[in-house]
Amino acid sequence: MMKVPLANLPAQYAALKAEMDAALLSALADGAFVLGTTPAANERVETLEQNVAAFCGANHGIAVNSGTDALLLSLMALNIGPGDEVITTPFTFVATVETVALLGATPIFADIDPVTFNLDAAKVAEKITPRTKAILPVHLFGQMADMTALAEVACAHDIPLIGDAAQAIGCAHAGKLVAEWSLLTTLSFYPTKNLGAAGDAGMVLTNDDSLNAKLRALRFHGSSGPYRYQYVGICSRLDGLQAAILNVKLPHLAGWNEARRQNAAYYAQALANVDGICLPETRADNVHTYHQYTIRVGNGKRDALRAYLAEQGVSSGIFYPAPLHLEAAYLRYGGKPGGFPESERACIEVLSLPVIPELTPEQREYVATKIRSYFTA
Ligand SMILES: Cc1ncc(COP(=O)(O)O)c(C=O)c1O
Repeated sequence: MMKVPLANLPAQYAALKAEMDAALLSALADGAFVLGTTPAANERVETLEQNVAAFCGANHGIAVNSGTDALLLSLMALNIGPGDEVITTPFTFVATVETVALLGATPIFADIDPVTFNLDAAKVAEKITPRTKAILPVHLFGQMADMTALAEVACAHDIPLIGDAAQAIGCAHAGKLVAEWSLLTTLSFYPTKNLGAAGDAGMVLTNDDSLNAKLRALRFHGSSGPYRYQYVGICSRLDGLQAAILNVKLPHLAGWNEARRQNAAYYAQALANVDGICLPETRADNVHTYHQYTIRVGNGKRDALRAYLAEQGVSSGIFYPAPLHLEAAYLRYGGKPGGFPESERACIEVLSLPVIPELTPEQREYVATKIRSYFTA
């Protein structure tokens, strides 16, 4: 039986072993551990910041310890706290909402567009109040939210956009790169992301010079100089070892994203006309990077298909099984069953199939054959 994993980090490492080993050993030899303490660590992190920022259409990149910290620091940079509201989606990874709640601000949910799984701009517009301090769209699965419409809403009310691009490095919408659309854009380099570190890592991107300076201070205890503090900050300095690894991988990212698109194109043709599933759609003005290839399985058959695929050696994922407005930690924000029907339906129907660049033609053919056979048996 063929095995088809959802992620294959050992295969990615094997392909880059010589370069990765050399980069790591040189960082170890330089003692390039903590940003701000050694020139070698600073150089590696700064190289990464400049190259990732350029890749995403931003002037500044501020490397931090995770995508979660990137969100937290972005909210902190905008002074978001108690009494403030941030409009976001309940169909996302928890960090998007958790960071708002941690700062004592109130996450205000709006429902998603069922085609892209991303925030519906019309629903966002209905949620704006004088307390709204930011709109936080997530570019889920590698496709950007409708930023044309969201920017219009944000602009009309003079509210900043923070784009959660943890899953969207390399994406574009209406001819503009992901970081060109929001005042602040956050990335995650979690190991299985399209660009993954060897542990936790993340980045904030911005074109705003004063927010860049503030974020650099905030990630380093709010420091304004040696042992002097301008802000209450946190400790979130990307280390030189992670930067060394990411610097090796970044030049491969465009090719990896293209390989994901080719795998998606294969599924689009091989799974066309399978009754019972709905394939992902790319909006005409979006560049998709397929962090996930997520189908919908109707008629309550999602879990049975997933179990069948697992029996056949095919891994799949459910991102996400529960909408955040109904999770125990977030019920305090007033969520009720039926409150966000598209997000709730997505949680019941979504299934992510293997789409990684390391997927072989035989493996993707096997996945498609097994899905077809499940529905025709
Ligand atoms: C949409 C989204 N937001 C935020 C995060 C948080 O990133 P991290 O795991 O690097 O903290 C992730 C990834 O895990 C994510 O997928």
